[in-house]
Amino acid sequence: MDDTEKMVEEATAEAERAESSRALYEVKMKFLGRTGKVTALLKSMKDLAAEHRPAFGKRVNAVRERLEEMFSSFEQRVKERELEAKLSSEQIDVTMPAKRRSKGALHPITRTRMELIDIFSGMGFEVFEGPEIENEHYNFTALNTPPDHPARDMQDTFYITDEFLLRTQTSAGQIRFMEKREPPFKMLSPGRVFRSDDDATHSPMFYQMEGLVVDRGVTMCDLQGMLDEFARTMFASTSKTRLRPSYFPFTEPSVEVDVSCAACGGAGCALCKGTGWIEVLGAGMVNRRVLENCGVDPDEFTGFAFGMGIERIAMLKYGIGHIRSFTENDVRFLEQFKD
Ligand code: PHE
Repeated sequence: MDDTEKMVEEATAEAERAESSRALYEVKMKFLGRTGKVTALLKSMKDLAAEHRPAFGKRVNAVRERLEEMFSSFEQRVKERELEAKLSSEQIDVTMPAKRRSKGALHPITRTRMELIDIFSGMGFEVFEGPEIENEHYNFTALNTPPDHPARDMQDTFYITDEFLLRTQTSAGQIRFMEKREPPFKMLSPGRVFRSDDDATHSPMFYQMEGLVVDRGVTMCDLQGMLDEFARTMFASTSKTRLRPSYFPFTEPSVEVDVSCAACGGAGCALCKGTGWIEVLGAGMVNRRVLENCGVDPDEFTGFAFGMGIERIAMLKYGIGHIRSFTENDVRFLEQFKD
């Protein structure tokens, strides 16, 4: 019987030393578990003489109850301590400055292309994309540039086979679009083009944006009006355009289009080489031969087309000096285009 008092003392001492709820649980099992000391006492009852059993049983049960109470109060204490430790270790200071997350930016070409699409889709243009690998028919012949035509030399072409080539101009898309669609329409065609050409303002792969409008009674005035709107939105609200006579086989008449220099407002500076104007694109009224090639009646419909280099627009808009900056992937360059 004295053993039971000792057992309570021993259990209390061990429970006091237990620092975690896990350790405390182990102590509890040592006494109250299925193979624990108190349980063993109860089991030993069968070895006693029958008259001693009730008193013994009562005593052991009383011990068990005391131990259970003792453990549950220790459990509560350990749990409280553990919760406090957890809370203080997880404390955060919301006034500390946050870690900076570096954010990417759209490539200036992507940005300019999206801006161009925005401007022209606002005027009712729909976007059409043609293939980068073309055949002679779409890239040249149907654009009124037969095999022996000297204008083929205007663009140094990468040939893949005798027939297939990397398109030199998004104008090829004009033919593909007109073959499928009846006028009236306004079409905008962005894409990559390829020419064997390489210097500060030319790269063997670059981007163009083609525009094509065909309807009854379309004139050169419509062309200049839309280009003026484009220049005002893209460069400066005071920008103007100027048309100069030029030549393309697929337009007649053909023009080069200059935009008033946004850097000096037309007064003349280094960027515009003192002229006040900067050449930005080629354009013209769609040659009736091209309309005929696509099954469009040139006596009923007229149209205009334009083609611009997206790099050139981006270089002018952002003051970029070398076309290679677009493909070098220098993060210091690209980071400047973050919003
Ligand atoms: N395709 C011509 C070029 O690449 C540009 C252009 C397009 C000119 C449409 C007139 C009309 O130089």
